[in-house]
Amino acid sequence: MDGMCLTEMEDPAEEVQEAEEGLVGITFGDVGSTSLQCNICNPADKGEYVMIDHPTAGLVLGQIDQIERKTNVSIEKAMELSEGKDVEIEETMVGHIHVIGYRDSRGLLKIPGNPFRAGEKILLADEKLIRDVLGLKNDSTGAYIGKLQGHDIPVSLNINSIAQKHLSVLAKTGSGKSYTTGVVIEEMMKHDVTMVILDPHGEYSSMARPGNVDPSNDFDVKPHGFGDIMTEFSPNPEINPGSRPLNFTFKNMRAIELLDMMGMSKTKSNKTALEAATSRLEALKGYYGIPDLIQLLKKNEEDDMSSMIRNLEDLDSKGLFSPEGTRMDEIVQKGKTSIVNLKGTPPDVQGFVVNRLCTALFELRKRNKIPPMMLFAEEAHNFCPQQGKIESSEIFQTIASEGRKFGLGLALITQRAAKVDKNVLSQCNTQIILKVTNPNDLRAIESSVEGITKDMTEEIQRLPVGEAIVSGGGLSEPLIIDVRPRESQDGGESIKVV
Ligand SMILES: Nc1ncnc2c1ncn2[C@@H]1O[C@H](COP(=O)(O)OP(=O)(O)OP(=O)(O)O)[C@@H](O)[C@H]1O
Ligand SMILES: [Mg+2]
Repeated sequence: MDGMCLTEMEDPAEEVQEAEEGLVGITFGDVGSTSLQCNICNPADKGEYVMIDHPTAGLVLGQIDQIERKTNVSIEKAMELSEGKDVEIEETMVGHIHVIGYRDSRGLLKIPGNPFRAGEKILLADEKLIRDVLGLKNDSTGAYIGKLQGHDIPVSLNINSIAQKHLSVLAKTGSGKSYTTGVVIEEMMKHDVTMVILDPHGEYSSMARPGNVDPSNDFDVKPHGFGDIMTEFSPNPEINPGSRPLNFTFKNMRAIELLDMMGMSKTKSNKTALEAATSRLEALKGYYGIPDLIQLLKKNEEDDMSSMIRNLEDLDSKGLFSPEGTRMDEIVQKGKTSIVNLKGTPPDVQGFVVNRLCTALFELRKRNKIPPMMLFAEEAHNFCPQQGKIESSEIFQTIASEGRKFGLGLALITQRAAKVDKNVLSQCNTQIILKVTNPNDLRAIESSVEGITKDMTEEIQRLPVGEAIVSGGGLSEPLIIDVRPRESQDGGESIKVV
C-alpha cells in the first residue's frame, strides 16, 4: 500500500494529468463579469457547471450555455470537399459560459462587480462549490424531489415556499406529470402537510401502497406506502370501491347550478320555475332534497315540467346529495391526505363537486375551522380554463390570489399550460416543467415563469421522461433535475395496447 502511494506521489506525469483532468478550457477575447468564452480543450457538455478564479471574488460558479465548433471550412473549401479533394480542416471548440455567482461573507449570492481575467483556467466545478452557490443543502426539512442532473447532489425544495406560493407541474401528456406530482406529494406527506387532491382519473389512490422501486437505485429511495395517512373520497363509491361517499346538502343549491348539472338550457322559464320551487321549500322546512323539489314541480300546472322532473330524477339517482353532506372536517384532517377520486364522474358534475368543495375549503380556512393545507388539482385546465367561465373558475382565481394569506396552497397540474387561466397560472411561484412541445404552451410557460430563458425553452422541448426543470421553491435559479423514483405505487402507468 505504502509503495503505491509513494509511486503516485512521486510520478510527476500523473500529477500533471490529474491537474488537467478537470480543465475545460481557457478564457479568451473580451472578458466580462457575467459571461465569458473559452476554448474547449477537454470533453465538456452544454449545461455543465464550471468554476473560474476571479481576481477579487475568488472561485465563481458558471454554466456552459453553448458549445460551438469554429472551423476554417469556407464555401470554397466545402466545394473542394464535395469534389473529393483533400482539404485541411482546422477547428476549435468554443464554449459560451454564463456566470452564476459566488456566496459572499454573509452567504448572499453575488455576481462579481468587475471582469474576470483573460487566460484564466475554466475548470469543472467541484460539488461543494455547486452546492454552496446553488444553495443545495442536505436538508431533511425540504422536499427531496431528485438530483441535480449529472451530479450526485440531492435537490430539495422548501416546503413552505411550495405550499404558500403555489406550485404548477406542466408537461405534455405522458411526460411524467402525475409521477412527479406523486413524488412531491410523498414529500409533503412525510412532512405532515395536510392535503386534498382532486384526482379526475383515480391515479393517486395507489400511493397507499409501496412501489416496486429498484433496491439498487442511485437516489436512496426505499419503497413506502402511505395508506395510514390517506383517505379516499368519491362521488361514485360504487365505481371506486374503498372510497368514502362524497356528497353535499341540497339546501342552497342555486337554480343555475342545477340547470348546469342537468345539462338543461338556462332559459328564463326554467330558471323561474326552479327558483319559485326552491324558495317555497326554503320557507317550508329545514332540510329538503330533490324528491321534495320534484313533488312541488309536479304541482305546477302552468308549465310542462316533465323534462325537468326526468332530469331531476336522474340527478337524484347519482347520490350527490344527502341530508348531512360529507363533513369538511372529515375530508381535511391535520397531517392527513384526502384523495377526491372523480373517476366516473361526468364533467358537469365534476365542475359542481370541485366548486362546492373548493369554496368550502376556502371559506373554512378563512375562518380557521380547518388546518392550513394544500389543494392539488390534476387536469387543472378543466377547473380553471383560460377560455370561458365555468363553475369553478372563480374559486380557483380566489384561491390563487388570496389563498396565501389564509394558508391555502394550490398545486396545478396540467398538460395544456396555454389552456389554464393565466391569472391563476402566473400566481404559481414554484414550477416543475417536464417535456413540452406545443408552441402555445411554451409561450404560456415563458410568460408565466420567472427567470426562464430562451435557452431553457429550447431545453424543455427535448427533456426525456424523468428529467425536469425546476424553478422557485427556494432555489436560487432554475435547475435541471433527474426526478427521484417513487416510494409509493405509481397509478399512472401507461396501458399497453398489445
Ligand atoms: N421519473 C420517472 N421515472 C420512471 N418512470 C416515469 C417517470 N416519470 C414518468 N414515468 C413513467 O412514464 C409514464 C407517463 O407518466 P405519467 O403518467 O406521470 O405522465 P403524465 O404526464 O401524467 O401523462 P398524462 O398526461 O397522460 O396524465 C408512466 O408510465 C410513468 O410510470
Ligand atoms: Mg397524468
